[in-house]
Amino acid sequence: MKTIILLGGPGAGKGTIAEGIRTVSPFLHVSTGDMLREAVKNATGVGRQAEGYMKRGELVPDDVIVGIVEERLAQGSPDAAYMFDGFPRTLEQARLLDKTLEKHASRVNYVFLLEAGRDLLISRLTGRRVCRSCGQGYHVINIPPKRDGICDVCGGELYQRADDSEATILNRLDVYTKQTESLISYYEAKGVLVRVDSSRARQETVADVLRVAGSLVQP
Ligand code: AP5
Repeated sequence: MKTIILLGGPGAGKGTIAEGIRTVSPFLHVSTGDMLREAVKNATGVGRQAEGYMKRGELVPDDVIVGIVEERLAQGSPDAAYMFDGFPRTLEQARLLDKTLEKHASRVNYVFLLEAGRDLLISRLTGRRVCRSCGQGYHVINIPPKRDGICDVCGGELYQRADDSEATILNRLDVYTKQTESLISYYEAKGVLVRVDSSRARQETVADVLRVAGSLVQP
């Protein structure tokens, strides 16, 4: 099993870069945010537990998150290459991931820290739109759809995420600083952290990540 992590604040481009990597490599994209939004949409037990935290821009409790990630890993093949987006987000989650990977005689191979300034993160999130049917992401200025409000891929309706209001975005940025930034030194100490400037065009960031991570999935 191979594992890479995309780490970065809200709007750093984790989902966008993961999508760019997924389409050109065998990495399996595991987004805890997407899994939770799906659970909320389907009103599952996990969805009911997570909904309030997500609306407020707070972190969902570690035990809920680790449960859904372990379930996802148990479904995959032992040779799979995973790309985590939005997980881990606390030291507790990082330590539990290490323990889970140890059981598979594996470890985290690389953590890519996507770095971009605070003003850029806010403008990316306020302008984000997502397709209600297929989940394709857009930005009203940076990555606009060909037709206003309509997905280029499937013709579905584009919507704004409930947690992309300005007040909730500011809370998510604070939560990142207080609860997630400590992962930078955790992974730096393990020698697996790679810093990437994600304020550039997405293709450049994708290329930087693949230059390092590509060797993990070469036949
Ligand atoms: P999650 O969905 O993970 O949200 P997030 O971390 O706040 O990150 P985002 O999805 O908002 O941003 P992103 O970095 O993926 O940026 P994107 O590529 O979309 O989590 C949501 C919630 O779920 C959390 O608040 C929490 O409640 C809960 N949760 C999830 N995981 C959890 C965990 N492990 N533990 C506890 N709770 C958890 O890009 C943003 C915009 O910018 C888009 O419009 C995009 O088109 C544009 N853009 C991106 N890159 C570029 C570029 N290079 N150039 C131009 N535009 C760009």
